[in-house]
Amino acid sequence: MSEYLLEMTEICKSFAGVPALEHVNFKVRSGKVMCLAGENGCGKSTLVKIISGVYSKDEGEVVFEGKPIAKITPAEATKLGIQVIYQDLSIFPNLTVMENLAINSEITAGKKLVNRRQWEATAKEALSKIGYHIDLHAKMGELSVADKQLVAICRALLFDAKLIIMDEPTTALTKKEVDALFKTVCQLRDSGIAIMFISHKTEEIFEISDDVCIMRNGKNVYAGPTSELTPKDFTYYMTGRELTDDHFVAKNISKEPVLKVEHLSLKNKFEDVSFELRKGEILGITGLLGSGRTELALSLFGLERPKKGTITLNGKQVKITSPIMAQKLKIGYVPEDRLTEGLCLQQSIADNITLSSLKRLSNSFGLLKHQDIIDDASIWKEKFSIATNDVNKFASTLSGGNQQKIVLSKWLSNDLDVLILNGPTVGVDVGAKQDIHALVHQLANDGLAVIIISDDLSEVVINCSRVVVMKEGKIVGEMTGDKISEDNILEIIR
Ligand SMILES: Nc1ncnc2c1ncn2[C@@H]1O[C@H](COP(=O)(O)OP(=O)(O)O)[C@@H](O)[C@H]1O
Ligand SMILES: [Mg+2]
Repeated sequence: MSEYLLEMTEICKSFAGVPALEHVNFKVRSGKVMCLAGENGCGKSTLVKIISGVYSKDEGEVVFEGKPIAKITPAEATKLGIQVIYQDLSIFPNLTVMENLAINSEITAGKKLVNRRQWEATAKEALSKIGYHIDLHAKMGELSVADKQLVAICRALLFDAKLIIMDEPTTALTKKEVDALFKTVCQLRDSGIAIMFISHKTEEIFEISDDVCIMRNGKNVYAGPTSELTPKDFTYYMTGRELTDDHFVAKNISKEPVLKVEHLSLKNKFEDVSFELRKGEILGITGLLGSGRTELALSLFGLERPKKGTITLNGKQVKITSPIMAQKLKIGYVPEDRLTEGLCLQQSIADNITLSSLKRLSNSFGLLKHQDIIDDASIWKEKFSIATNDVNKFASTLSGGNQQKIVLSKWLSNDLDVLILNGPTVGVDVGAKQDIHALVHQLANDGLAVIIISDDLSEVVINCSRVVVMKEGKIVGEMTGDKISEDNILEIIR
């Protein structure tokens, strides 16, 4: 028998004549983790759906346990031992953990009567397979994403899975949850199951995978052992360009601080926070979730009202009581959750970019000058290389990285002194991430004072000329220049 569990050869697939996959080749081994990597839209999910029988391939060969499979249906994929954990997890939120675990096997077994004791036994067996403890009677919809995922994994194991495919499982997880998931993945791997893990995050792939298949624009550009790649090769394969992780070096830092925060406190959120920010500087504020970093940012934008302490802008003490006021004071804030806070998805790209500069773009009667809006938006499209051929299209047509570029453009089209970026590249591809970082560097060098709030330590290290670390609402450390490293931050963050 072949040493490979699954062999995919020369797979092609088009949608309405547009190729999504072109001659993709890779192999998956039992007891190993294979990462399918690539930027958004490169065809990863399409490939998964071909393996699981949701889509049929146009060309190519699928071989499972040495046997060619001519046509895969979802039922047959299940019978073969292929299980997919999709991003939406396909759970029933209104049912309990136990019901979710038992329901599929009940349906497959064609049972019509409900035997709750049998269900309970099935569910318990499923959980015990990975030694995972959870209340069987908890409503599925109320669990965290991480718990839902583990239940979905247990469910997959009930079908005697030989291959478990996880489509971007870490997208909505915290670092701690990712660690827990990886432990489970290793456990499954060690029990002889093959894992196909889909991701576009470099660190994750190097941490978890034995083999990797890297895709770009529907083609696979590398397939082989992960150990033969450096992280640099890896990003090159993914993006098709050399990415430099040049550290930002501040070139023109102003003598006087533009922003001075002294003894600022917000009840139960943060306490006695003081720091200064100069023009030309990129200041990083980092800390674990709940450290108070986001509330601090919101206070500088008038969305939280600290009771104690002072904020001084350009030498004048100010009280920032609303976002409108913050904007007047030339402070911009780009939220972490750009989809709910920063973007109107069902409006055009141009309208989104110009939303906060409507005053500048309207005539003396308050009427908007359409052509000016388009022109203004087009400048940003060029500057940021926003991937669209038409700024009149809805913002929803863009990928996450490009949506983030729009949110940034929106703020930058105003005249700002201070720009606060909260998680500027959360959920963004490496390529777009680099574009965003490069632009922020340029803005700082042009004289803007920037604050980056992030728990992505590599992002903080690469981009910031100074870093303050928060823990439980207090500033517990500050570092500059060469002292800024992931290790040094980790030491005080924990
Ligand atoms: N059902 C479909 N109909 C038309 N186009 C699709 C369909 N599914 C995927 N595509 C297209 O195929 C390409 C690859 O998409 P996908 O496999 O979802 O990428 P990834 O998972 O890597 O982000 C995209 O251009 C996408 O628009
Ligand atoms: Mg996908």
